[in-house]
Amino acid sequence: MASIYLDHAATTPIHEEVQERMMAVMNQHYGNPSSIHAFGRDGRKLVDQARTTVAEAINAPFSTIVFTSGGTEANNLAIFGSAYAYQNQGKHIITTAIEHHAVLHPCEQLEKDGFDVTYLPVDELGKVKVEDVKAALRDDTILVTIMSVNNEIGVTQPIQEIGALLDDHQAIFHTDAVQSFGVYKLDVQSLGVDLLTASSHKIYGPKGVGFLYKKEDLHLQQQLHGGEQERKWRSGTENTLAIAGFDEAIKVLEREREERDRHYEALQNRLLMELEQQGITFTINGDLNARVPNIINISFPNTEVEMFLTNLDLAGVAVSSGSACTAGSIDPSHVLKAMYGEEDPRLTNSIRFSFGIHNTEEEMAIVAEKIKPIIDRLKKVVT
Ligand SMILES: Cc1ncc(COP(=O)(O)O)c(C=O)c1O
Repeated sequence: MASIYLDHAATTPIHEEVQERMMAVMNQHYGNPSSIHAFGRDGRKLVDQARTTVAEAINAPFSTIVFTSGGTEANNLAIFGSAYAYQNQGKHIITTAIEHHAVLHPCEQLEKDGFDVTYLPVDELGKVKVEDVKAALRDDTILVTIMSVNNEIGVTQPIQEIGALLDDHQAIFHTDAVQSFGVYKLDVQSLGVDLLTASSHKIYGPKGVGFLYKKEDLHLQQQLHGGEQERKWRSGTENTLAIAGFDEAIKVLEREREERDRHYEALQNRLLMELEQQGITFTINGDLNARVPNIINISFPNTEVEMFLTNLDLAGVAVSSGSACTAGSIDPSHVLKAMYGEEDPRLTNSIRFSFGIHNTEEEMAIVAEKIKPIIDRLKKVVT
């Protein structure tokens, strides 16, 4: 039985053109970019080409791009790096309750280290209010870190407005753009951000590589100590193979972005239509008017997420709850908790569907058909 993969917010397959590029690099370009001989210069060229691609993609200068091992490391570098570099100007940080753990956990660690962190709430639609950011700002705020698009519900946040608000404040503005980089054309100048995180494996590139955009003149405390790679912002021999793959993934993305977005929109509409036609009761979590087209989080009343996911998996449909899986069981989503409070049934009956370029509209019809009997079965168990 063919499986239907609808978990692209977790990770995407590697695009064919990316695979081809990586095979070529693997076979021919193994020089260490720090070596001064021809092999090394070849490796350096490859990394610099990728840096140019990234810089042009987000309208940033070449020298502001720091390659990392992915979104988690870029977020850690942004948060610890700026907090420790600017702690003499204050120890207050603002973030939101719905960030990815790669932001929340560094913030929690900083609290243990004596920083004061404000976790902004969101409304029922999963949106952060610019007024709340304004109200939370203090003279000693040194960092504001707010995601562009939430990975569980796909809701977009008002990054540009927050960037404008922070224009005349000392606070550094970081955005985790891991889930938006593959959908929106991002421009760090018009967004008004000082730091921006993205990751390759969410955009059909290889795993284990990402970047941090770091505005010129901004200082970060080094998190890895060693060689002088990445202008000393990130020591360690560059992962040339993955960086080249990321380069190619961005080039393909730039070429196909609009077509992809239209495709995701069509898939989403078809899935919702098919669910309705099957007579399935559901509600959508998150703002319908401010969302990426490739992620939709749906609550199915009277179901239980763990059983639902297992049944879907057995039926050949790979989806996710969007929240963390601890020791085989699913924790109630911190994002849905922030939206609805602790007790709401949607915390335990919601599923994230995230679409990709290889999905078809026919698959959406099959998914809805497979969901129907599962829901009917689960209703008997849960109610
Ligand atoms: C919003 C967000 N931030 C950060 C990350 C972590 O990125 P990586 O897997 O590249 O470490 C993810 C991955 O799920 C994400 O969705």
